[in-house]
Amino acid sequence: MYALGTRKDVHEKIQQELDEHLSKNEQEYQYEDLVNLPYLNCFIKESLRYYPIVYAVPSRMNVQDENILGHHVPKGTTIIINTIGLHFSPDLWDEPNEFRPERFLEEKTIKTASWLPFGMGSHLCLGKNFSLFEQAVFLAMLLKDYDVEVNETLRYAKTIFLTPEKYTLCLKPRNNTK
Ligand code: HEM
Repeated sequence: MYALGTRKDVHEKIQQELDEHLSKNEQEYQYEDLVNLPYLNCFIKESLRYYPIVYAVPSRMNVQDENILGHHVPKGTTIIINTIGLHFSPDLWDEPNEFRPERFLEEKTIKTASWLPFGMGSHLCLGKNFSLFEQAVFLAMLLKDYDVEVNETLRYAKTIFLTPEKYTLCLKPRNNTK
């Protein structure tokens, strides 16, 4: 919501896509309606890259001695993956500090294991697909009828998740005629 309310150009592109693909008077949409919204779905992925709620993949332990990039990692070491470090690495992303949903349009260009908001491997988030779809439903329903505005600077709360401190969000009914 913060990413939307502070980026007018992105906000407009999402609404343009919704106006083109969804009928305004429809109260219920089908799965197919919402997965065929490429820009909205890229926006959700870029938001999770830029603001990864779970900013480190929960710990793993290696079962044998390993050599990782010249570093000896003995068996039984606790390993935590720094998701934020990955998501903002210039080795993995072109201009990582730019919020640019378009980068996900060509999914094939995203490097393996560079986007880990839901973790990876056998403990990959069980709710990943559910969550991505739920966000698309929520945002599509909201943005087809409302504009979102935020006039505050983001401050992170001190919690184990990457969540914002309280901020004011303004929802304005849209003045669209479609
Ligand atoms: C934006 C929303 C969500 C994010 C960012 C998120 C993120 C994560 C992450 C990072 C992990 C750890 C994965 C790993 O260790 O590799 C995880 C695990 C898990 N998540 Fe989510 N999650 C989300 C929503 C959900 C939802 C909606 C559900 C249930 C419907 C869910 C159920 C689970 C479960 C059961 C696990 C443990 C999987 C395991 O250890 O085998 N999550 N999630």
